Parts: sequence; structure tokens; C-alpha cells
Amino acid sequence: MDNQLKKEIEAVVGKLNSITLLPNQGCTSSVQQITTGRNKFLLKTSYKEKYREWLKSEAEVLKKLASHTEIPVPTYYGYIEEADRSHLIMSFEAGMTLTSALKIADTTTEKKALMKGFGELLQKLHETKPIDLFNHRGDWLDNQLVMAERYLEMGEADGNAELLNKLKSTKPIPVNQTIIHGDCTADNVLVVDGKVQMFIDVAGVTIGDPRYDESLAISRFIDNEVLIKSFYEGYTRYKVSKEEYSYFDEGLYEFF
Ligand SMILES: Nc1ncnc2c1ncn2[C@@H]1O[C@H](COP(=O)(O)OP(=O)(O)OP(=O)(O)O)[C@@H](O)[C@H]1O
Ligand SMILES: [Mg+2]
Repeated sequence: MDNQLKKEIEAVVGKLNSITLLPNQGCTSSVQQITTGRNKFLLKTSYKEKYREWLKSEAEVLKKLASHTEIPVPTYYGYIEEADRSHLIMSFEAGMTLTSALKIADTTTEKKALMKGFGELLQKLHETKPIDLFNHRGDWLDNQLVMAERYLEMGEADGNAELLNKLKSTKPIPVNQTIIHGDCTADNVLVVDGKVQMFIDVAGVTIGDPRYDESLAISRFIDNEVLIKSFYEGYTRYKVSKEEYSYFDEGLYEFF
């Protein structure tokens, strides 16, 4: 780490003791644990323009949620922009992603409990009274489609123009908008003390279509009837149809 950056980080957290690259790296950023005499922090760094924008909105979300403990996320400490990269500093949470927890769970009973917990956490988020922290202008889905078009033009999307046109012309019938996570996969929730307790990677948190979260949440488990059933023991407020699921998970998500 160069001296200038170290200085800026120390201005936020105090004198650094150690800097360690985490074994589990994200796809869109690099993550390091930094420690001071007393505390542990997570330093998340992004380089590409698209991901730097996401990191900036993650910083804004964490800042806004600092006074809203009903939505469990890491604590915000600071955000630093350099010429060619951006950094976010947040609390280091002792836990592991749900993906990792499911991998090391020995029994089906344990896996079922984790999936039910995932459903409960998401249910709680979607049932949280929308706070006017998120000045959402216009309809969330319309905004996402505009952004999808931009990513397509930038050559930054997996989806193609044909898929995007289809998404524009087959929008699902609207449902009530709620607070959403916006990238609610098993990689982006943390299991702490055996319980699914916290959201991470929160750049997409806003008021939006809860069916997007639900579809991404069940995506990895779609062929596992037992785990899907457990998820829905926790998430009882709605069940996406096959059409809604494929619109969001196999459609819209291809652009993000
Ligand atoms: N606050 C935190 N405390 C502890 N570990 C964390 C924290 N935030 C992230 N991690 C770890 O870092 C990894 C990557 O974080 P994150 O999902 O935010 O990065 P990302 O690059 O946006 O990921 P991706 O693009 O792959 O979804 C996580 O899987 C988790 O293991
Ligand atoms: Mg992630």
C-alpha cells in the first residue's frame, strides 16, 4: 500500500497494524482486512468505472443506514477516491457468506435452517417500512432498464439487445415497491454465529421491486426442492411465478 493512501486510511481509522488480503475475493472489487490496535475493518477497493460507481453508491447506502439499525449492514467508516480507484472502509464482520456456510454445513437439517433464515432476513427487509432515505425518482424497473441499456452500450453486460428489447416489452404487472437489497444472492448475506444475520454488498439497496431480490435469492437453489421449501418457510409474503423468476433472474440480472 502506498504512503499517501495509508495516510488517508489512517486519518479515518487510526494507526494501522496489519493489512491482509481476504481469501474470498469479490468479482468486482478486492477486499482486505485492515487492523488497528483495537479494531478490524474491511477495505473494499474497485478499479473499473462501472464498479467504482457501485462502490460509491454502496458508501452512500451504508452512510444512510447508519441510523437505521433495523436493516443489518456493516458500519460505515469512510470512502476515498483516487485517480484510478476508489476505496470503501467499513466494519469487519466476523462471519462468512451464506454460500460458504452452506458448503461447510454437515447436515441437511443445518442447510434447511440456513435457508429458512435467509428467507426470514429477506422477509424482514421487504416488510420494513420504506424510509425516505432513498430518493427514488420514477419507477425502479424503468430505471434499471435504462441502466441496462447503458451497460449494454458500454459493452459491460452479458445480455444482448434482443433480450433487452424483450424485457422492455414484457414487463411484469407491477407489485408494491419495498426496500430491496438489489443483489440478493447467497454471496451477499453473512452468517454470524450460525445465523443469517446481515446484508453486505449493498450498492443496490433502494426502493424497488421485491421480486428481483426473491428471484436472485432462490436462483442458486432452483433445482433443490428441499432448500427452496425451507427458504419459503422464512419468506412467506409472496412467491414469484416461473415467468416472474425468469424475467428477473434470467433476464434483467444478465445486465448487472
Ligand atoms: N464487512 C465485511 N466484513 C467481513 N467480510 C466482508 C465484509 N464485506 C465483504 N466481506 C467479504 O468480502 C467478500 C466480497 O465482498 P463483496 O460481496 O462486498 O464484494 P464484491 O466484489 O462486490 O462481490 P461480488 O461482485 O462478487 O458480489 C465477501 O464475500 C465476504 O467474504
Ligand atoms: Mg458480493
